[in-house]
Amino acid sequence: KIIILDFGSQYTQLIARRVRELNVYCEIHPFTHIPDQDSSIKGIILSGSPCSVRDHRSPQPQLQAITGKIPVLGVCYGAQLMAFQNGGEVLPSSSREYGRARLQYIQSANPLLKNLSQATQVWMSHGDTITQLPAAYEIIASTDSVKVAAFKVAGEETYGIQFHPEVTHTVEGKVLLKNFVVDICGCSQNWTPEIFIESTVRQLREKLGNDRVVLGLSGGVDSSVAAMLIHEAIGENLYCIFVDSGLLRKREFEDVLHSYKDLGLNVKGVNAKSRFYDALAGISDPELKRKAIGRTFIDVFDAEAHKIQGVKWLGQGTIYPDVIESVSVKGPSVTIKSHHNVGGLPEKMQLKVVEPLNTLFKDEVRVVGRTLAIPDNIISRHPFPGPGLAIRILGEVTAEKVQTLQEVDDIFITSLKERGFYNEVWQAGAILLPVQSVGVMGDERTYESVVALRAVTSVDGMTADWAHLPHEFLADVSSEIINKVKGVNRVVYDISSKPPATIEWE
Ligand code: XMP
Repeated sequence: KIIILDFGSQYTQLIARRVRELNVYCEIHPFTHIPDQDSSIKGIILSGSPCSVRDHRSPQPQLQAITGKIPVLGVCYGAQLMAFQNGGEVLPSSSREYGRARLQYIQSANPLLKNLSQATQVWMSHGDTITQLPAAYEIIASTDSVKVAAFKVAGEETYGIQFHPEVTHTVEGKVLLKNFVVDICGCSQNWTPEIFIESTVRQLREKLGNDRVVLGLSGGVDSSVAAMLIHEAIGENLYCIFVDSGLLRKREFEDVLHSYKDLGLNVKGVNAKSRFYDALAGISDPELKRKAIGRTFIDVFDAEAHKIQGVKWLGQGTIYPDVIESVSVKGPSVTIKSHHNVGGLPEKMQLKVVEPLNTLFKDEVRVVGRTLAIPDNIISRHPFPGPGLAIRILGEVTAEKVQTLQEVDDIFITSLKERGFYNEVWQAGAILLPVQSVGVMGDERTYESVVALRAVTSVDGMTADWAHLPHEFLADVSSEIINKVKGVNRVVYDISSKPPATIEWE
């Protein structure tokens, strides 16, 4: 495997994804955890960073522990740090070095640069530049404005590059990463979904033996794929619980329960609608809603799990981005929204936790799910927040408002699917606003609710753009909603991007 040492760059996870696209397994470690010598580690990539090596507070682990002993590739800050620690000079760049550049004077005999075209486009994003290299460091490529665009250390498999091979604007970035990971480090490209499934199922069998496992299904991709893997390993000893909170989409509970049964899962559907509605009564504050829902879910789930004799494990669909120890070099960030739907569940239940997906990125979970023949209506579904429609009903939640919103949402989502827009959009839904507006229907004056439609494009939900859906499509959806859903006389479309807006309104 490859270890990526994270110095806090926004691109660190992207490096990991690119390496895995080469079917090579890799892990991200914080820069403070320089790995010990271990024959399974074939090479190390040092990430970029928002910091400057000239700042004495910047991350500066002693890299001599690894360089010269194992292949190392420093990207941007990682390259500068190696040069700086060995007596080179790093200074603020005189010109702005941000954006596309052409890689010239490539030493094509160098194994790192093998098969790269002359003048290939690379992506620069840095405020500092290496002005002088230490002895034994040799320039292997330059651009017009960056002399040290790539270097190699003589007698070592140590390389540094100033550009970012992980972003798609570096057109041949993947070729370079393959040169490093496969040719220089000697990793075999055998980390495929089939191998992942086979080895995970084997490990789960060993770990779980004849123990019983309980797992909460949500209808989403992660919990479904986690359940199928555990099911492959231990069959009927996996007990799934699917709670109807009354805050799901229209028909969602019935449809998904059906799919789960078709997949052969041992699943119990629990109708807890009124418990959730009772817990939400009188609450308007978004964070208090989340807490009330989280608490109720734990209570309902705990009571169900206690009905299973001798259960020892709690299965969860935690994925890799949730467990990467993130390096924050710019101080702690503020909580915008808490996303802890079932935080506290394992502690309360005193169960051991099993998380078969905690090394995978979301897109990898989808590929594994498809390989396990999980149907597309589960694998390709949009993300849906744990608190469900409760955070799309601004103000107090009531059963009646949920029903209104379910109808609106169903028209929107069904239309997106029918017109082929569903898979182009990353997430979509409707929001019921606590606003009444005047309208006219026939000869009658109406005074009814307003709904907002929200559809965004995104890669990971961290940033998002509003989806530029065709006007005629929006017009059709709007009239269908106003004609069919009682109590709604106005539809608006949310044209805010994230940031500064968020995807959900609460
Ligand atoms: P925001 O609104 O923060 O949403 O831009 C980003 C993504 O997170 C989802 N989201 C939640 N998911 N519990 C969840 O499981 C929550 O409390 C929650 N709040 C927002 C949102 O749907 C989007 O996909």
